[in-house]
Amino acid sequence: MQTIMKSSKILEEKLKNYLDLINKNFSIDKLLQEKEDLTQVRRYYLVNHFAYLLFHSRKGFMHMGLYRDGVSKKESLLEHLKIIDKYINQVRARNVLELGAGNGANCVYLAMLHPDINFKGLDLSKKPLNPYRRIKNYIHEIGDYHQLDRYQDKSFDLVFAIETICHSPNKEKLFGEIYKKLKNDGLMVIFDGYFTKNLSDLSKEEILAKKLTEKALAVDNFETLREFEAALKKANFQIIKKEDLTQYVLPTMLGFEKLALSFFKVPILTRILKTILPFDLIKNSIAGLLISTLVEKRVAGYYLHVLKKT
Ligand SMILES: C[S@@+](CC[C@H](N)C(=O)[O-])C[C@H]1O[C@@H](n2cnc3c(N)ncnc32)[C@H](O)[C@@H]1O
Repeated sequence: MQTIMKSSKILEEKLKNYLDLINKNFSIDKLLQEKEDLTQVRRYYLVNHFAYLLFHSRKGFMHMGLYRDGVSKKESLLEHLKIIDKYINQVRARNVLELGAGNGANCVYLAMLHPDINFKGLDLSKKPLNPYRRIKNYIHEIGDYHQLDRYQDKSFDLVFAIETICHSPNKEKLFGEIYKKLKNDGLMVIFDGYFTKNLSDLSKEEILAKKLTEKALAVDNFETLREFEAALKKANFQIIKKEDLTQYVLPTMLGFEKLALSFFKVPILTRILKTILPFDLIKNSIAGLLISTLVEKRVAGYYLHVLKKT
């Protein structure tokens, strides 16, 4: 991977320069005081709705592409779904639930592949894109995935979640709910990002970059991989597959970094954009600058977990 070749000294410098750039353009103290609760998560995704469609995917996919085997951007966004499809077939699923379903794009893609399977999607604030509302075997609902009372116990063969569990401030509650709704032989598939080092092993700059990235992406706390897996274990889930996908999401992150740099390039334009655009949109530039560097420094990573009930 091209970026892993960068020396740690170059990456240290890069992180320091980016933190300086952020400091010059934003009030870091003010940003650090922001509280990332469900209201903020809801607001973040509503404000960023058109930006995701415009800059990321017109089909409404909101997750990062997986650039495996030189796939195109379009194909990279389908890689998660190919993996989920494999598990749908493995468990001969009849009922599938997506948590944090966003615009409904993932479920609709799978629902069209499997017209005989019932798909349900739950999202905190986002409605499905217009064309997705007509798909007969997909039901999209609005709600918080920490409360899954609307679904019958043991009713799903497969539950999946792509880049959304990181927003949960209460994993214990969430995993307990999922456990109840999964059939005994059902599977849970999670794709998400984590820190791979403890806070105590991070440098001062890395800690600041972590906190700023959390605020920029409406995440209460990016957990470590170890904390996440411990919470799964506590909820009686067994990890049957785990894959480090970090190198495959890095091209997407570097794309975000490039976009963020273009925002900071002309100071007068940066100042104008800051006054006319909502802060929840503008602050993506902070995450765009920092997240790829944290990944290149190998303090953060992106993983697939497949889980079954014990
Ligand atoms: C990065 S987007 C990913 C969307 C979708 N999984 C995809 O791959 O395109 C994260 C989504 O999680 C949703 N989300 C965050 N917290 C949630 C919660 N507590 N309950 C339900 N959805 C939530 C957000 O509204 C947002 O649509």
